[in-house]
Amino acid sequence: MTGRFLSFEGGEGTGKSTQLRLLADALRDGGLDVVTTREPGGSPGAEQIRRLLVEGEPGRWDGMTEALLHYAARRDHLRATVHPALDRGAWVLTDRFADSTLAYQGWGHGLDRALLERLDALAIGGFRPDITLVLDLPTPQGLARAAGRGGPEDRYERMDLTFHERLREGFLDIARREPGRCAVIDAAGDPDHVHRSVLKVVRERFGQFLASA
Ligand code: TMP
Repeated sequence: MTGRFLSFEGGEGTGKSTQLRLLADALRDGGLDVVTTREPGGSPGAEQIRRLLVEGEPGRWDGMTEALLHYAARRDHLRATVHPALDRGAWVLTDRFADSTLAYQGWGHGLDRALLERLDALAIGGFRPDITLVLDLPTPQGLARAAGRGGPEDRYERMDLTFHERLREGFLDIARREPGRCAVIDAAGDPDHVHRSVLKVVRERFGQFLASA
């Protein structure tokens, strides 16, 4: 049986990584084979591309170059990590996927949706997760949380507030357009509270596989 593919999306500091870990633990406790991964990255080649994208000056790349790099990384991630895991029946949880390119490079940097859809079709054939959990938080709150993390991977965090406000709108728009795949989760509460909302959505969608999770 082929596995299931779930993505977590959202702006900076929305708690995606924490929620991904909590969901992975719950699914493993339920006896499932779970693989956790992230974008950009998730395979040795894509992790190398990640460094080009998340480090350095905000103006280092224009929007189109960024989109090409993200899709090069995504294609490698799918080939080396995601598809092999799905083929053996694992549940793959990814911290970001293609919606991030539409939100960041599309809504954030102003790249045309039709162009990004063409690039997506070319690079990954329109492949999408079974479920996408969009964690939503007022932008200033998310940026404040993200600023507390520090480290060299701050290229996107340093882009201006209006950039981050646009991409939040982008994620909400994606969720409105694809309600069958996407669920918006209010990420303002404490992690346990948000986790319960995530579990509720996952159970509604995949209840038959989650008897004990
Ligand atoms: P992370 O901080 O969630 O690990 O993601 C790294 C950064 O890359 C984050 O600021 C969002 C950005 N990003 C894009 O701009 N486009 C994409 O397609 C992806 C996957 C991430």
